[in-house]
Formats: sequence, structure tokens, C-alpha cells
Amino acid sequence: MSGKTFYIETFGCQMNVHDSEKVVGALMARGYAPVETPEAAELILYNTCSIRDKAEQKVFNRLQQFKRDAGKGKIFGVLGCVAQQEGEKIFERAPHVSLVAGSASYTRLGEMLVQLEAGNRRVTGLSLDTEETFETPFTRRDNPHRAYLTIIEGCDKSCAYCVVPFTRGPERSRTSESVLAEARRLAEQGYSEIQLLGQNVNSYRDPSPAGWNFAALLAGVAGVPGIRRVRYTTSHPRDFGTDIVDAMDANPVICDHVHLPVQSGSTRVLAAMERLYTRDEYMRRIEWLKTARRKYSITTDIIVGFPGETEEDFQQTLRLLDEVEYDSLFSFKYSPRPNTAALGMEDRIPEEEKQRRLMILQEKQRAIQIRRNAELIGEARETLVEGRNQALGQWIGRTSDNRVLNFTHPGANGNSLVGQYVPVRVTRSGPNSLVGEAVAG
Ligand code: 5AD
Ligand code: SF4
Repeated sequence: MSGKTFYIETFGCQMNVHDSEKVVGALMARGYAPVETPEAAELILYNTCSIRDKAEQKVFNRLQQFKRDAGKGKIFGVLGCVAQQEGEKIFERAPHVSLVAGSASYTRLGEMLVQLEAGNRRVTGLSLDTEETFETPFTRRDNPHRAYLTIIEGCDKSCAYCVVPFTRGPERSRTSESVLAEARRLAEQGYSEIQLLGQNVNSYRDPSPAGWNFAALLAGVAGVPGIRRVRYTTSHPRDFGTDIVDAMDANPVICDHVHLPVQSGSTRVLAAMERLYTRDEYMRRIEWLKTARRKYSITTDIIVGFPGETEEDFQQTLRLLDEVEYDSLFSFKYSPRPNTAALGMEDRIPEEEKQRRLMILQEKQRAIQIRRNAELIGEARETLVEGRNQALGQWIGRTSDNRVLNFTHPGANGNSLVGQYVPVRVTRSGPNSLVGEAVAG
């Protein structure tokens, strides 16, 4: 069936975005051509997210929209976390779907496509019993300068609220040789920034005899000639050790940014969430970062309204924000998820109360960001240029510490700066971004 067209829409985290890049590459290697709209495609894929109920609903809304097109010979596939979680139930809920496969089955993608091509309309990839990682030489990366690179798949933690262990399966690390070989290939292709990906990168364990841990891998990737920036996401505080801070301190190629999800500032709630650390243990990691040789930007994730979270617990989270002074945070209302331990917990927080807490939290954080960003006025930062905002006449840049720094550059003379590293002086600040001018020279 070579000559077929496909369209893929991706929901969720960076792992999903990168999985889609791999899936696209694998499809193109089999002769499938990407098209811009679902209307133009014969094969329509949704790579889905089920982290919160809202994310999960999105895919079913999409499938409803295109239901009528099933009659026109289109083939629908659901990939990713909703596929893994709902499995064959998706065929009942959306009978026009022909493929349901979770990320732990993408190594079998070729085989599943053969089945679809042969006319099978109930093709599944739902086993989580795997030791493999999905590595393909065909990955089609969307960004020509910044590349995602998976180092570990799955998750062995069991946070009480989280679906990921059920949707992405057990932890599997890639060998350090394979990761380094991919990093070298990326450098040769002109990529200068690499973002190492995993649900919990800190628990990376090289399965080959070299036996590297995450800190060693980080230093190894940062040492690849041609790579100017290395980032990583996401970290679990329990597995975040001083060796990682030491590796960062020693190597300026590793970006000045750590995303360290705390989820709650209350030890009591952290215990109920099965996060495996206390507030004090978390704060110790923040101390390591604040007393390190380099200055790091710290960001986090917070869930409000976990079952049993009292006003006092919530106040402790607010106080944590004041103590840490994050540069940015992602905050969420707790959403009950299938299979998880928290699903059956009593003392649910009403929706309005969750919403109230979320608003208070976000307002506090906004004030912190306004203050912290304003402190940067007058400072110079190197930015990697990601694009151009034509309307504002500004280049869109990102700093090593992961801030958006948009700037004017009178000397650019109409030449594109995208992909270049440009030193910029900060002239203005807002809660979520900075504005500046290129430093002449
Ligand atoms: N409800 C709300 N937020 C959640 N997250 C994960 N699971 C849930 C849930 N059930 C948040 C956590 C995590 C981020 C990716 O999503 O904060 O760090
Ligand atoms: Fe969504 Fe989590 Fe799956 Fe990523 S791993 S797509 S955030 S459910």
C-alpha cells in the first residue's frame, strides 16, 4: 500500500511529541506521505494523552468530528496513553477506529501497518510486557536546531495520582553507546541543542557493561563536539542526587535549568501521593541547587486538591513557593485517573475549591515571576533564536535557563538569525517572558 497519505495529531508531553516524530519517520520509511490536514489523509492517527480527564476527552471529541469520514475509506488509529489505558474498549466507543496501540508497542509498528494494509480493522498493540525501547534511524524531527533524544522509557514509581506507569509500562533505559551515537549523529546533522527525555531521567541506568548513571550520561552527551546545549526532563526529586548538580556545575553546555516537580509543599500530602520524599528532603535538593557554583533556574509542577488536602496543606504549598521562588510552574487541579491508587481515596475536594486554590496559587506565582524577571533587566544572556515575530519586529529567543527572550537586532539586515546563538541585553520584563536588544559586536 505504498503511496498512502497520513496525518498525525499529537497531544500531551514532550515524550509524546518525540514518539510522534519517530512514528512519522517509520511511516515515511514505508512509503507513507505526510499531509497537512486530516481531510487529505487516508490514515489518520491521534497520539493521545490521558494524564488528566480533560486531555483524555480531547481524542474522543476528535474521533467524533471525523466519524462520518470512516465511510470514505479513511483509516483511524489511536496511539499513546489513551490507547494503552482504554485498549479494545476504544473499538466499541469509536467503531471506525482500526488501530489501538500504546507506546510500549511501537517497536511492532511495521507489523501493525502490515496488518492494516492487509485489511484488518481491529489491529492492537497493547502489551506492556517489554524490555525494549523504540529506537529508529528514521526519526523525523520537527525542529532543525533542537532535538529530543529519549534515554529512558516507562516509569517504575507509583505516585498515587498518576497513570503513566499504566500507560508507558516499566522503566527501560537505552544503552549509553546508543544514546551517544544518536547525539553524535544529531551534531553531524547540524543540531546544536539536545533535550534528553524520560518520565524519570534521574533513574537512568545504562544496561550495558559501562553501567553509566544519569550524571555520567549527561556529561557524556554534553561532551559531544558540536552540541552547545543539553537539557533534560523530567526529574523525580527522590532520584535527584548531588552528582547531577556536580555534573551541571562542571559543564556549562548543560543548561542552567532544572525542572523538579514537587507536586505539594505538605509532607502529609506527599506521603499520601506516595512521592517518596518529605518537604525537607525536597528543600535539601533546592539548597544544593541554590548553593551550587552556577546559578540555576528552577521550575516545578504542582497539583492542588489531591484527596484530603486541607487548607493548611495548601498554605504549606504557598509557603514553599515563597521559599523556593520558582521561575515558572505548571499547576493542575487533581484529576482522578483509572487504575491509580488515589482513585478510591475519600475526602475528595470539591471542584470549586480546587479552582479557588489553583487561582490563588497561580496569582502568587505570577507575582514571583514578575519580580524575578524584572531583576534580569540590564543583564546579557545568550539566546538560541527559534523564530521571528513579524508583527512585533522581534526575534524569538530562548536562554539557557529556559526563558523566552525576544529581541530586536538592527544589524541583522533581513538575514535570518534562526538557529544562531545571539547575546542579548534584557531591556523589559513581563511575567512570562523578557524583551531585549542584541548586544552589538
Ligand atoms: N491530576 C492532576 N495532575 C496530574 N499530573 C499527573 N497526574 C495528574 C492527575 N491525576 C501532573 C503532575 C505531573 C504533570 C506532568 O502532570 O503535576 O508532574
Ligand atoms: Fe500524557 Fe503522561 Fe502519556 Fe505524556 S506520558 S502523553 S503526559 S499521559
